[in-house]
Amino acid sequence: MDFYEVIKTRRSVRSYKADPIPEDVLKRVLNSARIAPSGNNRQPWKFIIIKDEEKKRKMIDLCEGQEFIASAPILIVACGRNIHYNRGRWMGDYSMIVDVAIAVDHLTLSARAEGLGTCWIGSFDNEGIKKFLSIPEDVNVVALTPLGYPKDKNIFKETKARKKLEEIICYEKWEG
Ligand SMILES: Cc1cc2nc3c(=O)[nH]c(=O)nc-3n(C[C@H](O)[C@H](O)[C@H](O)COP(=O)(O)O)c2cc1C
Repeated sequence: MDFYEVIKTRRSVRSYKADPIPEDVLKRVLNSARIAPSGNNRQPWKFIIIKDEEKKRKMIDLCEGQEFIASAPILIVACGRNIHYNRGRWMGDYSMIVDVAIAVDHLTLSARAEGLGTCWIGSFDNEGIKKFLSIPEDVNVVALTPLGYPKDKNIFKETKARKKLEEIICYEKWEG
């Protein structure tokens, strides 16, 4: 699939078929997260793959009641270890969040290329999930995403709900 087509047609998918994801497909998608760039190549991430139905249902409460997250065959919890990185200047500990976000973006785009849906979940109870999934103290949850085949096979199309290019680009100095 053409790279720009992947980027244009990735959408947040909030309704999934129960169909399982073939292991080779899952591996390719996860591998895309693995090879993402990170500051100083720290790779602070860990991805928890949840397939267990009961566990997925329990996660709904920890994601502010977002029921659809449990409808996909897989729920991925993207975590990052807080490395106190003193060369990060003002970015400091945010560097870990940036690193994990890049890896999750790799994952969501690869998923799209495989015909799989994802939905970035940013509304969640970090402490609650940490307790539930035995995540260590110095690790935090950055994002979650369900992963599965969309129920609506027409969902992958370009959105118009974006600012215009002229609104987000300026030249030589800040304008606007
Ligand atoms: C950081 C972040 C947090 C988000 N949190 C949620 C969420 O908790 N629940 C949800 O349904 N969608 C969530 N979204 C998805 C956005 O609503 C969605 O990406 C946006 O509306 C654009 O739609 P699109 O992904 O289909 O292009 C989140 C997206 C991002 C990037």
